[in-house]
Amino acid sequence: MRTYEDRLRNGVRNAGDAVNKRSVRDFDVRGKKVLVRVDFNVPVKNGRVMDDTRIMRTLPTIHYLLQRGARPILISHLGRPKGAPDLEYAMDPVARWLEKNLGVPVLKLDKAVGPEVEKALDKWDGEGVVLLENSRFYPGETKNDPEFAAQLASLADLYVDDAFGVAHRAHATIVGVAKLLPAVAGLLMDEELEHLDKVLHNPKRPFVAIVGGSKVSDKLRVIESLLEVADTLLIGGAMCFTFFKAEGFETGSSLVEDKYLEETARLIGEAGGKLVLPVDVVAAEKLEENTPSQVVRVEEFPAGSMGLDIGPQTVEKFSGYIADAKTIFWNGPMGVFEIDAFSEGTEGVARAVAKSGAVSVVGGGDSVAAVRKLGLENYIGFISTGGGASLEYVEGKELPGVEVLPEKEA
Ligand code: 3PG
Repeated sequence: MRTYEDRLRNGVRNAGDAVNKRSVRDFDVRGKKVLVRVDFNVPVKNGRVMDDTRIMRTLPTIHYLLQRGARPILISHLGRPKGAPDLEYAMDPVARWLEKNLGVPVLKLDKAVGPEVEKALDKWDGEGVVLLENSRFYPGETKNDPEFAAQLASLADLYVDDAFGVAHRAHATIVGVAKLLPAVAGLLMDEELEHLDKVLHNPKRPFVAIVGGSKVSDKLRVIESLLEVADTLLIGGAMCFTFFKAEGFETGSSLVEDKYLEETARLIGEAGGKLVLPVDVVAAEKLEENTPSQVVRVEEFPAGSMGLDIGPQTVEKFSGYIADAKTIFWNGPMGVFEIDAFSEGTEGVARAVAKSGAVSVVGGGDSVAAVRKLGLENYIGFISTGGGASLEYVEGKELPGVEVLPEKEA
């Protein structure tokens, strides 16, 4: 197996590259129209933003630009519309959030490119910010169409990429436009890369990684990479049942990916003592609120049940590793966190990480939601806005949205 550092050396990404990206701080932005790619892909219900974390996290860049007399033109995707306008995914709820919280005028346009946008920008008095419509209303976005990128680039003098959460997508607003305008990383992008690099390169030891979530297939590569850099890898979430089955335990009707049993068994073999699996789990007959549940030891798992959370002894065991850690990376919930009866494992881990005092990075929607639900955000070193993006970065993969940004000049 190639080592992690080998992979970084031989791949396009080199250890340390990322933090050397040219930053918005390196550029004179005064009077410039600045196209800012943000990740405002936030949950929306009945026209309201339900979780504003991602928007809040871009405010430093937006204020930085405003304070220096730049004219920010914000663009983002929202959801997965199919390359055509779809009211369900319009940016209006985000515009309302900005109007309420930004403290400057917000000019929301109903298109992202084209004559109407050009006219509106010509007429714009330059006060406050412009918010363009959902980039995925255009088929050119996901295809990284050069024409669409050129239309976007024609709107501004400078491109700022603050959308780490979508840096793993080679889309027009991420890659195409960055090649056509002077391109720099925004403050959030800088921060994300700096914290992930701190964890991955020369972490203070012991380095404890915690990986959860339902599907082992989504996490195999990241587990492999983390086994090379971490001292201990704690595994929770439904995916541990694929590990248990690979070890020959009964798993009842738990979510098991049979196709990956062989690879999982190989990982267990290669990991030696580094890989730590739960010792007890919460089992129930079905995945429903108020279903009777019981804590069982892994080797006594009842045939008719499914495992839905890690058990209290596991939380205690994991908390011991976490308490000793100097560096922590956590991605993915320990159980079905949305249902109270199966949320204690994730919450227990969140509390332990918050208490630890280690350099910590938490990423992925559910683990971040657990931290927020418990009001522990301020006790976590860094909360990443990237789910898929942070995983791919940790895997050592080249992120198109990072690679495309020029290096700082020496
Ligand atoms: C995310 O929510 O992870 C990013 O905004 C990327 O969204 P996508 O998976 O729809 O590309």
